[in-house]
Amino acid sequence: MSDAPRNLLDDPTADPFDVALRAANQIAERTGVERHEIALTLGSGWGKAAELIGETTATIPAHEIEGFSRPALEGHVGTLRSVLLPNGKRALVIGARTHYYEGHGVRRVVHSVRTAAAAGAEVMILTNGAGGIRESWSPGTPVLISDHINLTGDSPLEGATFVDLTDLYSARLRAIAHSIETDLDEGVYCQFRGPHYETPAEVQMAKTIGGHIVGMSTALEAIAARQAGMEILGLSLITNLAAGIQSTPLSHLEVLEAGRDAEPVISALLARIVGAL
Ligand code: HPA
Repeated sequence: MSDAPRNLLDDPTADPFDVALRAANQIAERTGVERHEIALTLGSGWGKAAELIGETTATIPAHEIEGFSRPALEGHVGTLRSVLLPNGKRALVIGARTHYYEGHGVRRVVHSVRTAAAAGAEVMILTNGAGGIRESWSPGTPVLISDHINLTGDSPLEGATFVDLTDLYSARLRAIAHSIETDLDEGVYCQFRGPHYETPAEVQMAKTIGGHIVGMSTALEAIAARQAGMEILGLSLITNLAAGIQSTPLSHLEVLEAGRDAEPVISALLARIVGAL
């Protein structure tokens, strides 16, 4: 058994929105910033954007904030940063994603998004590294998420909470992204549970039901962000062609390498998009 301190979110009687509010208050105290208007979750390959979007005025190890987990994976940086944007707005940069496949439950998966909302964020930018189904996408291609298919069979909403998911990935924000990069492709993101990669048959299923991108994050977070009333922008970095679309086996190392290689270019793109918001 681990002797790590208990996470408040593991207590079923705790209200996850109260925990998010506590976390937001701690962030305000630690950063000296009362309100962060924009939040970004930086997935594989997107980390450098934190440096490019503005001036970091505070960095907090995420696990020191209520409800956040220690990073489960090397290559995922577990920090929360307060960044002052050139336009004077404040961004909360979340480099600490809890994945659904870690098995800690959906409350922990969406805690960062709920915390961002409690910290005042009206725009939530969700980024990830993912597999591409379109053969024309080479590793390193950034793709705007136009919609998603949630294949986890789970939801961050508890009880009879009926939330509309039409235009979940904001058309307004996608138009801004297109104005920055006119040839940015769009695609439907399929969230699988993971942590195994998909079989070629599963990738064909995703393609048949309308998917273009396969990954292990983002959809559950987007649902929680919509529940919280935020506008959502989703971006995938294609780190590899999905299983069976590429003929060679997938390796986590290659995925990380593709992310590292693409990082300067896609981070600069993200910084330009954030500058235009
Ligand atoms: N599938 C799921 N998740 C991923 C992939 C993939 O092919 N590549 C990077 N993350």
